[in-house]
This record gives sequence, C-alpha cells and structure tokens, in this order.
Amino acid sequence: MASRVVNAPTRFPRKPVAAHLPRRRVLLGPAANVILSIEMSILPILHFPDQRLRETSRNVTSFDDELRRLVADMTDTMYLAEGAGLAAIQVGTALRLFIIDPEVAGRQATEPPMVFINPEIVRLSDEAQTGDEGCLSFPGIFVPVKRAMTAEVKAFDVEGKPFTVEGSGLFARAMQHEHDHLAGRLLIDMVGPVKRQIIKRKMRKEAEVEAT
Ligand code: NI
Repeated sequence: MASRVVNAPTRFPRKPVAAHLPRRRVLLGPAANVILSIEMSILPILHFPDQRLRETSRNVTSFDDELRRLVADMTDTMYLAEGAGLAAIQVGTALRLFIIDPEVAGRQATEPPMVFINPEIVRLSDEAQTGDEGCLSFPGIFVPVKRAMTAEVKAFDVEGKPFTVEGSGLFARAMQHEHDHLAGRLLIDMVGPVKRQIIKRKMRKEAEVEAT
C-alpha cells in the first residue's frame, strides 16, 4: 500500500512515549502513500470548560513535517482515548484540522484515520438524524443531537491534496461534530438549558476530582 518509508525528524521536543505504546509504524493515508516510522506521543486532551476549546481555529498554511507529526500524534491520542474523531483544538492546537476513525469514515479498521485539513461543509441534507453524541472533551457524556443525515465536505489531505467526500449516518455526524470544533462550537451548545446545566455540573465535578 505504501511505497516509501520516511523517518520523521525529531526536532519537536516531546514527552517520552507511553510505556504501553510500542514504537510502531503509522500509516498516514492512502493518498499520502507515506509511512512514518516514528515514536508516537499521546497529547493531553482539553476538557470542557477549558476556554481554549472556544477558540476559532485558523487555516493550515504549510503541509510540512510538523503537520504530519501533529496528525500522527492526534491519531495515537484518538485511538488511546477510543474516540471516533478528534479536532486539533482539542489537543490545544488552533488549526483547522480534524481526523475521523477509519471505520466511521467507511474504511477498513486497518487503514489510517481520515484527515481533514481546512475543511468546508459544502452541503447538508434536509433529511436529519437524531442520535447520541459524545466528545472526547466531555468524557462520559452522551446526549441526543440532531444533525443532517448526509454531509458533503471538501478538504485537503495531509499532503495538501484537495478532496471532496460525502458521508451519511455516523460519518456525517462525525464530520459535522468535528467541523463545529473549528469554530469553537461544542456538544454542550447543542442541548437545551436543563441538560446544559447538568453537563456543566458533571464537568465541574470531574475537574475538581482531576485537581485533587
Ligand atoms: Ni468533540
């Protein structure tokens, strides 16, 4: 599937890899046709009410090693947290970038996550779906959210190649959820005032536990 092996530079200082994560090869997208053989890093995921989650992300302008490194680290972070998607702002980087689990994106589980850089939603169906939605920035919280059944999104892959993809069901939900993150819009904004208070209380409790 991939034709060349690239050793990523180590010019980004980072914490040692978690002991349970062996050094391994990470596939970075069939379109990229690149294998990175690097040590991975798990990035801390910001939890609500961290105000950084409210930032508006800015466009990616250079498709370089630093970007590939971020995507690789986000991939491991998402897998470890067992998420279906992850936006860069959730690991504190305000760039218009998110990844979606390959199976959610209709690919094989062995394939890399689908990478969306500078994504734009070009079309949402009138047909809607309502289903439980979670977010790695709101651990343990699932709330019913109404979304378009089908979404068409255009974006760039990690090599800077443009693509357009249409997804429905869970894939469409994931794209809409992750796209919201880029504008600082969060799961808690999608529910009514009563549920909002419940979520705030739960998250505040969790933050207190974490602080002790
Ligand atoms: Ni989220």
